[in-house]
Amino acid sequence: MTPTSERHWLRPTCDDRPARFAYGADYNPEQWPREVWKEDVRLMREAGVTVVSVAIFSWARLQPAEDRWDFDWLDEVLDLLHSGGISVDLATATASPPPWLTTLHPEILPVTHTGETLSQGARQHWRPTSPVFRRYALRLVEAMATRYADHPAVVAWHISNELGCHNIYDYSDDAARAFRDWLRTRYGTLDELNRAWATSFWSQYYGDWDQIQPPRLAASHANPTQQLDFKRFSSDALRDYLRAERDVLRRITPDIPATTNFMVMSGTKGMNYPDWAAEIDFVSNDHYTHPGPQRLDELSFSAALTHSIAQGRPWFLMEHSTSAVNWQPVNVAKRPGELARDSLLHVAHGADAVCFFQWRQSAAGAEKHHSAMVPHAGPDSEVFRSVAELGRTLETLTPVTGSVREPARAALVYDWDSWWAVERDSQPSSLVDYRQEVLDWYSAFLSLGVRADVVTTSADLSGYDFVAAPLLHVVPTALAGRLEAYVHGGGHLATTYYAGVVDENDHVHLGGYPGALRDLLGIRIEEFGPLRDGEDVQLDDGAVGTVWTDRIDLTDPEVTVLARYRTGDQAGRPAITRRVPQDGGSAAYVSTRLGSQGLPDVLGRLLSGAGVRSELPAHARGRVELTVRTDGSHAYWFLVNRTDEPVAFDTVDGEILTGPTPVAGGGLTLPPRAVAVLRVASGTDPFAQAG
Ligand code: GLA
Ligand code: GLA
Repeated sequence: MTPTSERHWLRPTCDDRPARFAYGADYNPEQWPREVWKEDVRLMREAGVTVVSVAIFSWARLQPAEDRWDFDWLDEVLDLLHSGGISVDLATATASPPPWLTTLHPEILPVTHTGETLSQGARQHWRPTSPVFRRYALRLVEAMATRYADHPAVVAWHISNELGCHNIYDYSDDAARAFRDWLRTRYGTLDELNRAWATSFWSQYYGDWDQIQPPRLAASHANPTQQLDFKRFSSDALRDYLRAERDVLRRITPDIPATTNFMVMSGTKGMNYPDWAAEIDFVSNDHYTHPGPQRLDELSFSAALTHSIAQGRPWFLMEHSTSAVNWQPVNVAKRPGELARDSLLHVAHGADAVCFFQWRQSAAGAEKHHSAMVPHAGPDSEVFRSVAELGRTLETLTPVTGSVREPARAALVYDWDSWWAVERDSQPSSLVDYRQEVLDWYSAFLSLGVRADVVTTSADLSGYDFVAAPLLHVVPTALAGRLEAYVHGGGHLATTYYAGVVDENDHVHLGGYPGALRDLLGIRIEEFGPLRDGEDVQLDDGAVGTVWTDRIDLTDPEVTVLARYRTGDQAGRPAITRRVPQDGGSAAYVSTRLGSQGLPDVLGRLLSGAGVRSELPAHARGRVELTVRTDGSHAYWFLVNRTDEPVAFDTVDGEILTGPTPVAGGGLTLPPRAVAVLRVASGTDPFAQAG
């Protein structure tokens, strides 16, 4: 979709104003009496809101009984929004089935792996593979699409809501049937499945498809390939459901783009979003931060990953919070400046829409203690004033819309198969945390002030000078070949402990670790040396390792040792190695967990070996995050102050679209937690004079 398409969320349908940032929230008018609706629209205008997502949880109001429909209230809401100049991202309303449906058809309720059936009474209590649920849901989608096809406020369809948030894993009989169908498609024959699942182990041979079940609670560790395939299947099953809703919408309203809100964020693991992105017209994401030292790093990491899932096209931040959430153990309010900084960091990574959950804070219900754009205190509040100020800031950033994030020279690989595989049971160590390891590498890039893209294994790596693929555990032969071609083509690769060990069926690459990457790295490991919780080892470069060590033998004269173990069972042996093949770049191996504290040093050395350096002045590295968006003729440099202290730049060359006023002599001081956006001609470096 581009802003020139007939309908687009960047261009309000109510007037002919030019494309600008979409700004808004989930709007749940059914929680409020009608008198409040008018006030809502007035305040939305005051806040600069351009779009709201409506009817996400409205099924029970829209269809109060199997054969009763009530659209009148929603007609009124959409008309009111439209007359106020607010566009609508209209939900298909299927996220939470009403009690009449679960009473009539309890067989739509999901079943846990221990065999318990989940009850109605919360939300998303439906089986992704239930034909009965699908029949009712698609009937509702059809009714919504037919009724609102021509409503001028509607700029997008919002399919369901956060698919898989609560129901990604269902072990019901419906799931069992669908799993068997999925396996038939994947393997074709039972022989192939028996081979892939290695069913000669523990007498698991299958003689008939009907004998296969989801990995329900069993007496010991379930078959690892069965578990991995069930994860793949569960992601695919929901994607299939997404397609079913989308197909109804495309048939009835081919001109209205459809999306669904992903959850690329810490804590969400089940949905392989890179595989889903092609099914929708534009990518949307929901993101919530977790308090702690890597709060902002994780936000940036998720936004960078969303950017690559969106294949570089502008994406829609569908939800984040103005302040506290209600679902963490302790729900911390945002500090002054964080509301805008969090939003603009998503924009820096390619978002062209900034939306919140939700517009008006609920007075009752499970989310009444979740922040919103209009808090319990009302519009006379810091939160609402910050919300309105952000609306004005986004207006000043209008020229940035439609621009795309400029590719970085370094990339970090994120791989769902490896994530799923290393965190399963029956591993050498249960302390391995895939997302944390990759996030630590991202933090190291941030602390060095080096921009890094976050890409998946299917990405074309050839444009990157340096690629880090920590814990890349699942390496099919074809991927190993691509990584070899990358390094022999001049690329610089780094990976870590427990990489390269298995293929796509979770079968070990024999002959010594790191299996598929052994020759490329020029090392061989016969046995892993995981560390117990609380144990650590010293390296001779001063770093400290935890979680893992390896007993490394060098097998190639092109390998040099960058650091050795000083303590522990591997004392004196290599800890970090780097092979520099004559015909190419390099391939480095880090055999222990260095964490966000220890990684910057080694990463800095590897990056300088690859010729990649920071574009920020030295004093700002780590304190300021830099991203660059470009529209071909201009580049937009986003400078995000990550700290609670001001950061001063002596000379900055560029037009400030938003941020502090420059001081005499061309300097700029970024206040604590502030963001500046500079516009320069493409190819110009704003810090060229800064040294
Ligand atoms: C999710 C949901 C919203 C709301 C928020 C609260 O993102 O989509 O409906 O529950 O979480 O953080
Ligand atoms: C028991 C079992 C074996 C094997 C080992 C693993 O001894 O009898 O089959 O599972 O445990 O430690």
